[in-house]
Amino acid sequence: MERAFRRLDARLTIFEKVLIANSVIIAGGAVLGTWLTVNFAARFAVGLAVSFFITGVTITLVVNYVLLKFAFHPLFELRSTMEQVQAGNFAARTRSELGDPDIRLLARTFNDTLDRLDSYRRSVSAQILRAQEEERKRIARELHDETSQALTSLMIALEVATDRLPEGADQATEQLRRAKGIVARTLEEVKRVTVELRPTVLDDLGLAPAIRWYVKHYVEPAGLAVSLDIQGLEGRLEAELETAVFRVVQEALTNALRHAHASRVGVELLAENGTLRATIRDDGRGFDPARATGDGDRGLGLVGMRERASLVGGELAITSSPGAGTQVELVAPLNRGSGRAAG
Ligand SMILES: Nc1ncnc2c1ncn2[C@@H]1O[C@H](COP(=O)(O)OP(=O)(O)O)[C@@H](O)[C@H]1O
Ligand SMILES: [Mg+2]
Repeated sequence: MERAFRRLDARLTIFEKVLIANSVIIAGGAVLGTWLTVNFAARFAVGLAVSFFITGVTITLVVNYVLLKFAFHPLFELRSTMEQVQAGNFAARTRSELGDPDIRLLARTFNDTLDRLDSYRRSVSAQILRAQEEERKRIARELHDETSQALTSLMIALEVATDRLPEGADQATEQLRRAKGIVARTLEEVKRVTVELRPTVLDDLGLAPAIRWYVKHYVEPAGLAVSLDIQGLEGRLEAELETAVFRVVQEALTNALRHAHASRVGVELLAENGTLRATIRDDGRGFDPARATGDGDRGLGLVGMRERASLVGGELAITSSPGAGTQVELVAPLNRGSGRAAG
């Protein structure tokens, strides 16, 4: 019985189902009505006629409801998938083995569209990340080669001028001293911005030295105790992978400093069997990752980490709960073939 039902379900279109359903109801009503009239009309009391009428209408409505519910169930399912996607669950897909042939086609097209949008979104964010990284590199180079050099020359010129001042020009000496102070502070600031944009160690020496250097100069001085454990990372990796891992570690450390109020962080980098695993674990106050990324008006850090992971064919897992610290884990393949050298 159920098999026959399902076969019918798969073969008929919604239009045919509704047509059949309504035809059955109308025909049934007409036959029953006529039969009742012919056989009992003369003997009917008014009360009985009314109760016949009410029963007839009720049965018709119930049958219609059941049949329509059956006919439209694939559409309901499609709608529920659409609502899930609307709510931000981009992985939701409709079952493609839905009953109705028309709806099946609709569901397949809908799923294909979602797939295509998803891969488009991924490729766009990959492009954005690459372009952003290139631009940062360019600006960092510009700041280092031009601005820093110019400031250094200015500093030297100020020193020479100070030396050449005649005895007793105390006011001028004081002014030059102040000017040198400003130049020195600006140089420091330019250096800090340059590093934040793109640490040259990353390009020059690679991932492990860059992380060690970053921790030593920017994390530990801020009051966070970091234990570093780096294994299997002696050589250089693909530039894009080095960038992705560095940025993920950097963001996780920044979050541990800024949000977690952590006192210790463990950073583990392990390269073996063709896989790179980076784990950053803090002992801070933790949070609910599902809520931190869901509403879109929060920071881009967590989203960015995920995007960078998927850019290098990897996966990112964030484990955290309020009060229990946070763990960020990135797992990525070490070699994804050549031709993706942009970092
Ligand atoms: N290690 C962490 N410990 C506690 N809360 C965190 C941690 N990392 C992220 N969060 C929470 O998740 C939110 C989103 O983080 P993120 O996407 O990096 O944005 P941002 O750092 O710019 O605020 C933060 O505002 C913070 O509330
Ligand atoms: Mg952040």
